[in-house]
Amino acid sequence: MEGINLNQIGVSFKGSGSYVPNQILTNEEISKKVDTSDEWISSRTGISQRRISGVSENVSEMGFKAAFAAIEMAKWDIETIDLIILATSTPNDLFGSAPCIQAKLGANNAVAFDLTAACSGFLFAVITASQFLKAGSYKRAVVIGSDQLSSYVDWNDRKSCILFGDGAGAIAIEATNELDNLIGFTMRTDGQRGSFLNLPSQNNQDLIIDNINYSSGGFSTIEMNGQEVYKFAVREVPLIIANLFKKTNFNSEKINWLLLHQANQRILDSVGDRLNFSSEKILSNLSNYGNTSAATIPLMLDEAIRNKKIKENDIIATSGFGAGLSWGAALIRWG
Ligand code: COA
Repeated sequence: MEGINLNQIGVSFKGSGSYVPNQILTNEEISKKVDTSDEWISSRTGISQRRISGVSENVSEMGFKAAFAAIEMAKWDIETIDLIILATSTPNDLFGSAPCIQAKLGANNAVAFDLTAACSGFLFAVITASQFLKAGSYKRAVVIGSDQLSSYVDWNDRKSCILFGDGAGAIAIEATNELDNLIGFTMRTDGQRGSFLNLPSQNNQDLIIDNINYSSGGFSTIEMNGQEVYKFAVREVPLIIANLFKKTNFNSEKINWLLLHQANQRILDSVGDRLNFSSEKILSNLSNYGNTSAATIPLMLDEAIRNKKIKENDIIATSGFGAGLSWGAALIRWG
């Protein structure tokens, strides 16, 4: 599914917010648990530390805090919010964690639901929300990316446990009759390569009565083929962004910021190189947070907005990619 908006109605981006848990887990500390080192992790991934949710925190609690900050920046009356979409793969309620955020916010007029597309989730949710706004169905939307991967990491698997952390980010989006600030987008899925990165269900079989069996619900831990995921990212992400540039008549010189899903610094650098971005334009906070899945893009975006790196009308090329496999790109004008 892809689209370049030619309609009269567009969207504008009004606010951002984020939240990370207080607990910090450094590379040094991880190397007390598994056979690794700060040197290995830093040089292969660019990650120095990550945040881990405490036992009283969960996805909707973190998402609520991020959403609240975004709404505050937008200066919106809570009652005027029509739509809340929570991108997450680690809901605290499998029936949906977005309603919990809606209740905490007191956003009584908003419809709220979850969307799952792993590390592409936030981007897919922004595009989804924008379609409701551009269609004229709703006026104001809050899109949240919140994930608590620490609950599903195998903390004995040194090949994957070093990568992930917890956090949340959010943005406030509004329908407008003026310039469309979602300039263009593309979304892709390839389920054939889905086995490279999974968080599969793990079921125990039992009997309800003598002749009726059933599987009880539950989940395994993250299973990842790191090399294949790496190859997928460095091949597909430059292609999808280059394609979007072609369709929208943009190029790296016209773009202020490259905002990629924060998976690995080597992926960020390689994609930036292939698209001819100078390193100052490549946003990165991986070192502090690692890969927080659906939260990485809004977490980075909010940091860059609050420290005044990203300014009103800056053009951002963004791309999310990960499990599914799923990937996508969007061109955004901030403001
Ligand atoms: N510490 C020390 N050694 C480690 C290690 C660790 N944490 N993890 C793996 N190794 C070892 C391996 O056992 C292997 O040793 P061997 O050669 O003796 O068998 C060696 O390092 C190389 O392993 P490899 O898997 O080839 O490493 P890599 O260079 O591909 O780096 C990743 C591994 C995970 C950092 C890298 O593949 C990656 O970042 N992939 C993308 C993952 C990703 O972004 N996933 C989320 C997408 S949304």
